[in-house]
Amino acid sequence: MENKSNNRPAPAPRVFSGVQPTGNLHLGNYLGAIRNFVTLQETYDCLYCVVDLHAITVWQEPSVLARHTREVTAAFLACGIDPKTQIIFNQSAVPAHAELAWVFNCVARMGWLGRMTQFKDKAGKHQQNASVGLFAYPNLMAADILAYKSTHVPVGEDQKQHLELCRDIAQKFNNDFDAPDFFPLPEPLIQGPATRVMSLRDGAVKMSKSDKSDNARINLNDNADLIAKKIRKAKTDPRPLPESEEEATTRPEADNLIGIYAALARQSRGDVIQQFAGRSFAAFKNELSDLAVAVLAPIGEEMSRLMAAPDHVDDVLRDGALRAAAIATPIMDDVKRIIGFVR
Ligand code: TYM
Repeated sequence: MENKSNNRPAPAPRVFSGVQPTGNLHLGNYLGAIRNFVTLQETYDCLYCVVDLHAITVWQEPSVLARHTREVTAAFLACGIDPKTQIIFNQSAVPAHAELAWVFNCVARMGWLGRMTQFKDKAGKHQQNASVGLFAYPNLMAADILAYKSTHVPVGEDQKQHLELCRDIAQKFNNDFDAPDFFPLPEPLIQGPATRVMSLRDGAVKMSKSDKSDNARINLNDNADLIAKKIRKAKTDPRPLPESEEEATTRPEADNLIGIYAALARQSRGDVIQQFAGRSFAAFKNELSDLAVAVLAPIGEEMSRLMAAPDHVDDVLRDGALRAAAIATPIMDDVKRIIGFVR
């Protein structure tokens, strides 16, 4: 493979993505990200990371952080990521992440980070009280990706801006240190009909781990009854299902449920609309609920099984961290040489 613009060989493809161990893994995390992780392992070498350093940018109770770290790992395994062929690990176990993040703290500009909408949303009106880590969060994320010279990053829509920043950081590092193409410019992979799953209670806000209402999201460890109840209670408008994609885009709650159905059934939105056009939400919700239970309940059950005796989960993380470090260490050696650190 060649990079056409400069005849230098294109970097070897490598996938990296991360999920925060902050509890309440939900349908958005699954459809927007984790399910795509599973598909990509057929084609790429992949690293899937439980980003515990990111989690502590806001307060985490230590024992709860440990449980949530194992829970995300269990979710990766339950969804079908193969820990033998791919690398599953937690971020804090590989020092390269924090080391490279420091370097990027000195490459990225304050103005770049100040524009990050996620920081503004999370810090809200209390920016002076936010941790420095929350502000510098995207630099650590760039370090996660670039410590492995990753080329592809599967994420939900909400991470797009962070990935653009990652590319800016890679480019500035390469320019500043006159190291053309040292870091690749990673491509976001934002795929499928549910890249931004919305709350079940309000079609204008994203489904999120931190929503106060548990009814706003379907958690990966919800049982069949709870999944069905939450879908039954999901907010809709009083009209029957939309007749066209154009109409759906004007009706956020309907559009969200159609997107969820399409993603779970591996169909396009258009096909789902055709199938259900003009039908009642009650009928649609029954079918959606059966589908969601069929896909999600086995995942929840496998997560519970893994969490009941987490030795296997811990082994996967330990083995993954060793293999991840073996990739990152020589890259960090080059970074240090390029910067001029005496070694
Ligand atoms: P996190 O832990 O918030 O979310 C994990 C993944 O789930 C996706 N996601 C969604 N997708 C669709 N609809 C939703 N409602 C929804 N909510 C979350 C996210 O886009 C993400 O892909 N900063 C990242 C973690 C991270 C990372 C990385 C990702 C750290 N380092 C390096 C990629 C590469 C985050 O907070 O994800």
